[in-house]
Amino acid sequence: MIETTEFVTRRERLLSTMKANSVALIPAAREVTRSRDTEFPFRQDSDFFYLTGFKEPDALLVLTKSIDGIGKSTLFCRNKDKVAEIWHGRRLGFEAAKTQLGLDDSYALSELDATLLTLVNGKRVLYFAQGTYADFDEQVWTLLNTLRGAPKKGYRAPEIIQDVRRVVHEMRLFKSPAELSVMRKAAQISAAAHVRAMQFAKPGATEYQLEAEIHHHYAMQGARHPAYGTIVGAGNNATILHYTENSDALNDGDLVLIDSGCELEGYAADITRTFPVNGKFSDAQKALYNLVLKAQYAAFEYVKPGGTLVAANAAAMKVMTQGLIDLGILAGTLDELVESQACKAFYMHGLGHWLGLDVHDVGDYKQDEKDRKFEPSMVLTIEPGLYFDEDAEVPAQFKGIGIRIEDDLLVTETGYDVLTKDVPKTIEEIEALMAK
Ligand code: GLY
Ligand code: MN
Ligand code: MN
Repeated sequence: MIETTEFVTRRERLLSTMKANSVALIPAAREVTRSRDTEFPFRQDSDFFYLTGFKEPDALLVLTKSIDGIGKSTLFCRNKDKVAEIWHGRRLGFEAAKTQLGLDDSYALSELDATLLTLVNGKRVLYFAQGTYADFDEQVWTLLNTLRGAPKKGYRAPEIIQDVRRVVHEMRLFKSPAELSVMRKAAQISAAAHVRAMQFAKPGATEYQLEAEIHHHYAMQGARHPAYGTIVGAGNNATILHYTENSDALNDGDLVLIDSGCELEGYAADITRTFPVNGKFSDAQKALYNLVLKAQYAAFEYVKPGGTLVAANAAAMKVMTQGLIDLGILAGTLDELVESQACKAFYMHGLGHWLGLDVHDVGDYKQDEKDRKFEPSMVLTIEPGLYFDEDAEVPAQFKGIGIRIEDDLLVTETGYDVLTKDVPKTIEEIEALMAK
């Protein structure tokens, strides 16, 4: 649980970076129709959530900074409405929102047009995330035109429009102790769900049953939604990177790849494990699996202050390239094959990504045109993989095999801490668990 005071501090930090005489607009997410009059499960906008902790749709956070530097947080949110609440659920209401969310001011949404005009009028800089919500963009352009259109009324539109994401996303890249405690919990729940799926797997079970085992565990732990579409791909399906049909049976002798993480209090976990349907790796599967694992461990060595994702990936690719030469899959010298990135034919995605409120979390990967160096309290995934589909030009025993191993790492003062260490990963650990 993240305390209200932390959200207040985040807003103060954002305000401290804003110019004098400016205003920032950060809208909540909209509800999205799934079919006719039913909606997809609501997911709050990550930036809005990061700055408010507020989980309702149809709200707007406004941060204002006066000419003499005084900052204020104002929220517009849905009115209390007895009938709407009987039908659709409780609303916090603007009065309770003010105290509960630690705001300076709050208004009912019905006040938005008139009040927002006065909050924006005369400000020199307007910060907002253009292009995120088309209808909100429209609302802002209309407001600006109103201000531009009536100077005699004393209206004046901001002269500078600046992207608010730069600062917010930089803040989000560094996780606070409270965020890390939620992320550890999300990682633990997700790890236990993977263990459950490994224990359930057997020839004749199905991909959707493994998905159900995993989602059941998330929900039972209070994490009602996966952070992204769960991937359960058996056999050749594991070679489809974003396979989410999850509709096939698990066949004896095949590997199954599961990429799944829960969302807890808005924060994502992201774990991939690959294991044999029947509990025992074949020799060909072992060889490839251990190669991916070795590449992952090689990458881990670069996860420390000063290391970079690019250097970690280069280390992983070097290991993979040598391994593919040794297995007779690639031919040539190590230097040439590394130079030509030959292993990319079978490892087509990146090594990893920032992790946080979004599974592919925000934050720049470059700084001053250079590869970004890791710093303590960043969280990222390391997820090398090898994929040989049925048509791949490789020896027959490797066809129809997809392997990815993905863990979530916190960068510490001296190196890294694997948040997802509770899922078996070595061949011995996986086979021991599945033999039980
Ligand atoms: N599950 C998406 C990813 O691993 O990046
Ligand atoms: Mn990932
Ligand atoms: Mn993943």
